[in-house]
Amino acid sequence: MILLTGANGQLGQDYLKLFKDQNIEFIATDYKELDITNIEAVRSFVLNKRITTIINCAAYNDVDKAESEKDKAYLLNRDAPKNLAHISKEIDAIFITYSTDFVFDGTKGSPYVEEDEPNPISVYADSKYQGENAVLDTYEKSFVIRTSWVFGMGNNNFTKQVLGWSENKDLLKIVDDQRSSPTYSHDLAEYSWQLIKTNKFGLYHLSNSGECSKYEQAKYVLDSIGWNGALGTAKTADFNLPAKRSLYTKLDSSKIELIIGKKIPTWQSGIKRFLEEYRG
Ligand SMILES: NC(=O)c1ccc[n+]([C@@H]2O[C@H](COP(=O)([O-])OP(=O)(O)OC[C@H]3O[C@@H](n4cnc5c(N)ncnc54)[C@H](OP(=O)(O)O)[C@@H]3O)[C@@H](O)[C@H]2O)c1
Repeated sequence: MILLTGANGQLGQDYLKLFKDQNIEFIATDYKELDITNIEAVRSFVLNKRITTIINCAAYNDVDKAESEKDKAYLLNRDAPKNLAHISKEIDAIFITYSTDFVFDGTKGSPYVEEDEPNPISVYADSKYQGENAVLDTYEKSFVIRTSWVFGMGNNNFTKQVLGWSENKDLLKIVDDQRSSPTYSHDLAEYSWQLIKTNKFGLYHLSNSGECSKYEQAKYVLDSIGWNGALGTAKTADFNLPAKRSLYTKLDSSKIELIIGKKIPTWQSGIKRFLEEYRG
């Protein structure tokens, strides 16, 4: 039996669909059913349920708010995954959790591989990096999967924001100095699941292939829907946000591609399929 935590989020919702489609037994929980910051609640929840795999999709993802809600960010991104790894070890279940491209400072200038040294430059990034280390130090049957710029149906995201702005704005200015890869949560769930089934535990990078700036992502979305407004560029510094942003954080997914023997689809393909899903 698979236990999903944070199942109402983007990735959680796509795991849910995948498991339903493949007739795989799972229990889906989110904050209300199972608060993963409460280790005793998790311990008693898993008791007698024959859980073989725990997939943690829950996270504190508000990069700017994390600067002023430090305790909350570390509790959810560091302590909770560590506790889930502990409990997985107690019941001999496989454990999977997710991290971010933001663990890197963005100065490398070419795609990041798993061996590159992280250097988090915000509270959010540091909380996720500490979470990775805590999990990998706690339990050898763990997967830590870093991803980037996730979009899907399950929650708010940049692609949905662009679609929303397109409905009531004629002029948009989007930053062109942040580069990574948008990642469709459907693909993230699907290719993660293929990896999980190999039992080749460890740290992985998984994002849609190719790379773009936020501006190029927005342009692709707006061109796809035939928006008639004017799109201009801006710089990250123009927005004076509370958290520092790493500017270039493209993740190289070749390790996972080699192991599962498949190429991860492009981010453009991800957006195309997302738009079909979004339009219903
Ligand atoms: N989104 C991105 O762009 C991005 C980029 C890089 C990495 N990642 C990582 O990828 C993974 C999946 O991200 P996502 O975008 O699918 O996240 P998401 O949409 O924000 O979903 C997270 C889910 O966790 C739930 N949650 C919050 N606190 C909880 C608690 N104490 N116990 C149980 N559930 C709780 C949230 O519920 P509420 O909504 O009720 O709080 C939400 O349903 C995360 O590890 C994230 O850090 C995401």
